[in-house]
Parts: sequence; structure tokens; C-alpha cells
Amino acid sequence: MAKPDIEAILDAMTLEEQVSLLAGADFWTTVPIPRLEIPAIKVSDGPNGARGGGSLIGGVKAASFPVGIALGASWNPALVEEIGSALAEEARSKGASVLLAPTVNIQRSAVNGRNFECYSEDPCVTATLAAAYVNGLQKGGVGATVKHFVGNESEIQRTTMSSDIGDRALREIYLPPFEAAVKTAGAYAVMSSYNRLNGTFTSEHKTLLTDLLKDEWGFPGVVMSDWFGSHSTAPTVEAGLDLEMPGPTRDRGDKLVAAVRSGDVQAEKVRDAARRVLTLIERVGGFDAPDIPGEQAIDKPAHRALIRRTGAEAIVLLKNDGILPLDLTGRTIAAIGPNAEAAQIMGGGSAQLNPHYAVSPVDGLRALTSENQLRVATGVTANRLMPLISGPFEVDVYGRSDFSGPVIEHQSHPLGEVMWFNAVAPGVADADFSLRATTRFTPSETADHVFGLVSIGPSRLLVDGRTVVDIRETWAPGDNYFECGNREARGTIALEAGRTVDVVVEYRFVQAIALNLKAIRVGVAVPLSDKAFAEAVELARASDIAIVYAGRSGEWDTEGNDLPGLDLPGRQDDLITAVAAANANTVVVLQTGGPVAMPWLDKVRAVVAAWYPGQEAGNAIADVLTGAAEPGGRLAQTFPRRIEDTPVETGDPRTYPGKNEHVIYREGVFVGYRHYEKAGIEPLFPFGHGLSYTTFDWGSPTVDRPAFDGDGLVTLRIKVTNTGARPGSDVVQLYVEPPVSRVDRPAKELRAFAKLHLEPGETAEATMTLSARAFSYFDVERNAFISEKGRYWVIAASSSAEPRGSIDIDLTREVIEAVRARFSR
Ligand code: BGC
Repeated sequence: MAKPDIEAILDAMTLEEQVSLLAGADFWTTVPIPRLEIPAIKVSDGPNGARGGGSLIGGVKAASFPVGIALGASWNPALVEEIGSALAEEARSKGASVLLAPTVNIQRSAVNGRNFECYSEDPCVTATLAAAYVNGLQKGGVGATVKHFVGNESEIQRTTMSSDIGDRALREIYLPPFEAAVKTAGAYAVMSSYNRLNGTFTSEHKTLLTDLLKDEWGFPGVVMSDWFGSHSTAPTVEAGLDLEMPGPTRDRGDKLVAAVRSGDVQAEKVRDAARRVLTLIERVGGFDAPDIPGEQAIDKPAHRALIRRTGAEAIVLLKNDGILPLDLTGRTIAAIGPNAEAAQIMGGGSAQLNPHYAVSPVDGLRALTSENQLRVATGVTANRLMPLISGPFEVDVYGRSDFSGPVIEHQSHPLGEVMWFNAVAPGVADADFSLRATTRFTPSETADHVFGLVSIGPSRLLVDGRTVVDIRETWAPGDNYFECGNREARGTIALEAGRTVDVVVEYRFVQAIALNLKAIRVGVAVPLSDKAFAEAVELARASDIAIVYAGRSGEWDTEGNDLPGLDLPGRQDDLITAVAAANANTVVVLQTGGPVAMPWLDKVRAVVAAWYPGQEAGNAIADVLTGAAEPGGRLAQTFPRRIEDTPVETGDPRTYPGKNEHVIYREGVFVGYRHYEKAGIEPLFPFGHGLSYTTFDWGSPTVDRPAFDGDGLVTLRIKVTNTGARPGSDVVQLYVEPPVSRVDRPAKELRAFAKLHLEPGETAEATMTLSARAFSYFDVERNAFISEKGRYWVIAASSSAEPRGSIDIDLTREVIEAVRARFSR
């Protein structure tokens, strides 16, 4: 079809039609206007796959890719671009032409529940990878939605909290990833965050959405709200929020038409927002292919291979005394720990999806070992919630809130967890229903069983008619389901092996809390005993090698909830210590969405951080452990020794997690390594750290313009040789150290990096460029990036703590890059 004439379409539209475009039709699609042949388009989460429509759980199967923190640790923009292209194919297989990704918030805190989704504590890493992701995705014809704009660095009360951030920290730390995604990569959409910024909801923040994003950065795309994150009619439209999501509208429609008619909202604002939505539809090919295709599960070998390769390239070898790579020949292996047989492939929240499959670490090893070689013991558990009951649930919905009257709908749900967006059944008001969900459970042992119940609204759980958990009176929102579900309530009942029982949940709803979500979740287990712990230690003692698969899961690393601290959950530290005492060849594989404390570090021979690497998790981990692949990752977030060492968890609630609905980013630009260096605190593992199976020699850096006047770019080069016997990759990290400055600046800041893959004996040159911005700080008074005249050190390093060479650059004049938008004074 010829390119649609968007101005002509706008002219032909009534005000009502223009307004109708400015909110979703439903959870994932926009409103079509058949009269003018304007199609609907569909969006999908995001970011580590394309989940498709429907619920967060149990949807059509999709490829599960490594999560953001893993991509961050790859330090490889070319690879991230490939992931973006693969995700474009995935999105299309779900009928979606816009992906709600990437997440480019900064890992400000060590315990943010959503750190797993973000790339790094550093804006340079985040910005570079964000632009690569957007490029890959949009080359594939699918629009990116960079999120969450801005200041969503914690999940605690995220829908009401104000992130109070000064202009300097905004400009230097929190905005650059968005700036790169928008200005360098041309992202088609931006999602405002749930939180407020300096007191104003970002969805109503005119300085942010219009003055900065649209005017200063020249963003021609769509700003959409986070789901239910738009709270008003005129203020959001006037501020520059184009699209209210999800639909159907709550604040627009007739209300917005009336606001335009009464003069509260300018018609031109509505037209501009409609123009942006039409432009998005056009850019993703909506006018050419107006029908949204059905969802398909397409499990592609090429995606499998890419996910496996990326998984290994993201794994960080934190410590190795030479035991890795493992030689498995003729040796017995104990695979121990809660994450040995459980495949931890992704984080929780809206980023989760129904994967095509999930390879556990034990599956990965089994493929490489004989039956007698590999034995498994869980030892301890690490779950936050009781393990999900298998389901299915048969649900009777009543049209009254007291479980009386006729059943108005019967539903079957395949899992032990059921979620409903909007109404539980067509036409049923939230205040007027109750439901009874029934499943059957057959215990495999005779023991006390602990049941766990989470629901969004009051409920109780009965086993064969006996009430085991009752939160009908006590129910209160807690740390589940995006702060809408209660903290799991538990109850115990003795059950007999083989005797099937009826498990019933009675549930009703009180009122919509933040998200219009309803849910119930039932878990059950027999708690692991000390015997299980002892058996795991005995197995370690009787084996040649002990690998402990420890860490967390998407129950911990999840949207809607921050982590309680840096300690591994449950008795995992004890288990690792005991296993290491029993077996001198102990290796720890960590799977988390961020740093953890390691009190046992000196006692084990090797540690790798494997994150949540997607559906090929176990294969990628086995590849690295055995040397089939090298550990290509470097930390993109500092691992501190103790929580008190971090920039924000200092015990003052004002800096974390917030007090009186304000969290003050008092550390300013001193986030991550910038903080540790300023405070003189040695972390457990520094930013940028990661060992290799081979060795590299670095030449001295050279610079093409040692006297740089700030115009254009200055190029730095450094030769790297693989001096070992294995192929491997190394990351050259370029930090700029400023001269004495009029402001307090970080000791040094990462401004460029390059990853090189080298065969044994091979030499290659890392080439990196810097612009004047790389030398700058943001001057709040002058509202400008200022690069002071003077001599700067450019340090080539293999981590923030490991310089390998340096060269100085003389900036021959002061460079001023004035900006327009101003947040505060
Ligand atoms: C998340 C977004 C997500 C949206 C749609 C929100 O809860 O913050 O990242 O894209 O839901 O699922």
C-alpha cells in the first residue's frame, strides 16, 4: 500500500475518533477505526521474549531469552542487536508489532526486584546495549518501547513513590540510556514509569515528556503509560502522554472530548498525540497488514542456538583457581542445591512468559555424563513461596459475593495459579462475585504438608473440607502480585501418601488496587528436613567434584517486590560451607538477578554468576563449566561485600526504600563503582570484573588526537593478543579520569568499551571513540554539559579496579553543550 497520508487522515477524523486512538482497546491492542481504514496494532511484553496477549502465565509458548542483567554482562552490543532481531521474529509470531522493551533503568540499589531486567549500574553500558537492542528489534520491523521513563529504580510502592532526583544525576546517570535509545537508535515508543519524579507522576510530567523527550531530543514517537500508570485526563494529555494503557480507557474517551470542548485541553495536543499513534501504526507496517494474526508458538533452532551462545557469553567467572573448565572424564560429580534440578531461566513479573522448554543445570550435565557419574541432591530449598500445586483448577463463579446463588460460569484453568485481568467472567462486576476453585492433590509421602495461599482479595483454603489457611478477615495487600496480593499465608495439615484430597479455594475481591488484576495461587510441600541437608553433604563427600547450584528465582527477582537483602535465601550459605568442607573440589554456580554476599568464597574453588539465561540455561551453564564455551561475561553491576556498603541501602529510609512517599537519590551521580571509589570501599567483585579461561596481553593505548578541541570524535586504539591456548574474549573498558574540577566528580567513569573474541595467538585492535560529552559533567546552574579544559587520563582497564594502561588527552578548550529542559533549580 502507498504510504498513508497521515495529515489527510487526521483531517478526516472527528475529535471523537482522534481521542479514541489515545487509549488502548484492551490490554494489548490499540483502537481500530474501520471507517478510515485505521487498523489496530498489538503490543507485547517484553523484554526477554514476546509473551503475547492473555495472562502473565500459561500463555502460548514463546522463546525465553537471557534477561537484561545477563545481556548487560555480555558487554556485547552486536550480540544484543542479534537478540533484538530474534525478538522481532518472536513478537511477530505473537501478532505483536511493538515490544514493551527494553528496560533501561539503572541498577541504583543492590536489591531492586527488577535489577534482573535492567542492564547495568552504569549509563554507558546501559545506553550502548539499549541502542543495540532497539536497532535489532526495529530492523526486524517491530517497534521498541523504552521503559520505564524515568526513575523506576525500586519496586517498593512504585505506583505512588516519588523518585527525587537532581538534574545532574538525571542528566549524567538516569537519562542517557533513554537518550541513546531515542536519539541514536530512533526508538518508536517510550513508556512512562509508575513512579512520580520530583513529586509529579511521570505520566503527567511535562518537562520530562514534552520539554525534554519531544522538544529537546526531537522524539517523534509515542509515549505510552505503564499499565494503569495514567491517572488523569487533562494533565496527562497536556504533559505529552500520548497513549493510555491498557484499554478500555478510564481517563480519556468522553472525558477527553469534553475537556477539549471546554478548553481544558488544546485540540492541537490531541491531534499531535493521534498523529504519533498513526505514525507508529505506519512505521510497524500496520496499514499494509491490517489484520492482527493469531498467536503461534514457533520454536526455532536458530533461536535455541542464539540463546545458548548468549547464555555462555553472559556468564561471569568470578573466581577460579584453575579447577574450571572441568575435566569430567572418569570423575564422579555431585550436583547439589535448590537450582540444580530446577531450571531458573527468567525473572518474575510482566517479563515472564511460558517458555518452549527449560533446560535445568542437571539436564545440561546429564547430556555430558554417564548415568553413574552424576548424582543429584537438593539439600535445601530457596523458594520464597511454597512450590506451586500442579492444578488444574476447576472454578465455579457466583454472581454474588457470598458464594450463594447459581453458578454463573464454570471455568477450567490448567495451573495451580489463576490470574484474571479485568472481570473474572464476562459482565461480572468486581464487587459482586465470589468463586470456588477446586483441584485434587495426591501426596507422595505421609507427612505434615504446608500449604501456601496468595490471593488478591480475601480467601481461604480447605483440604477435604477442613480450613487450613484462612485470610478472609485478615487479608491485606503484601509482597505478591505487584503489591496487590497478600504476603503468602501458610497452614499445615498431615496427609497420607497416595490418598488424594480435594483442595478448594474460596475467593472474592474487594476493590481494584493499582492494577485491575485478580489472582489466586496455591503452593504445597513437605519442608525439606535436616536429613536432606546431611544427604547432600554426604553426596559431596563421596564425589570427585561437587557443584552447588545456588541462588534465587523469579519469585525473588521480580517486578513488584524488592529483595530482602544480599544473603542467599534459606540455608544455602550453610549448605555451600558444609559441602566445601566435605569436598575440596567445590564449585558454586550462582543464578540471581544481582549481587549476593558470599561468606564461603574462600572455601570454594570457583564461582560463576550465570543469571537467568533463558530456556537454554542448563546447556549454557554446562558449556561454560566444561569449557565447550568460554565464560564471556563481565559484571555490569558491582558485587558489594555487605549491604551497608552500597550507595543507597545505608540504613536511612529516605535514600532507600523511601519515606513519606519520597525516595531521595541523595548519592547523586555516585552510583555503583562511582560510589565505591569515592567512599574507598573495596567491593567483593568490582564492576567490569570477569575471569577468562585464557590470557590476554594488552598493548599501550594510542590516541589520534592527543590535543582534542572537543569537535567530532577522538579515537583510541589498543591491541589485544590472546596469549593462551584457548579461544576467548576480553572486554577493553575505557574510563575517563577528569582533572581537578570545580565540582565533585567521580574518580573515573566508563565512557566506551569494546569486546574482542580472539583465537589462541590472535591479535586484534579495539577501537573506541569519545566525544566531548565523554569528558563532561552536567552543570545544573548553566543547564549544560561542561567539559572543562585540561588534561584527562583515559584508562584502559579490565575492571574498574584493574587498570591495564592509560594515556592522557588534552582538552584544549572548555566545551559547553547547553540543553533546554530543566527539572529543578
Ligand atoms: C510493567 C511494564 C509492563 C506492563 C505490561 C507493568 O506492570 O511495569 O514493564 O510492560 O506491566 O505488562
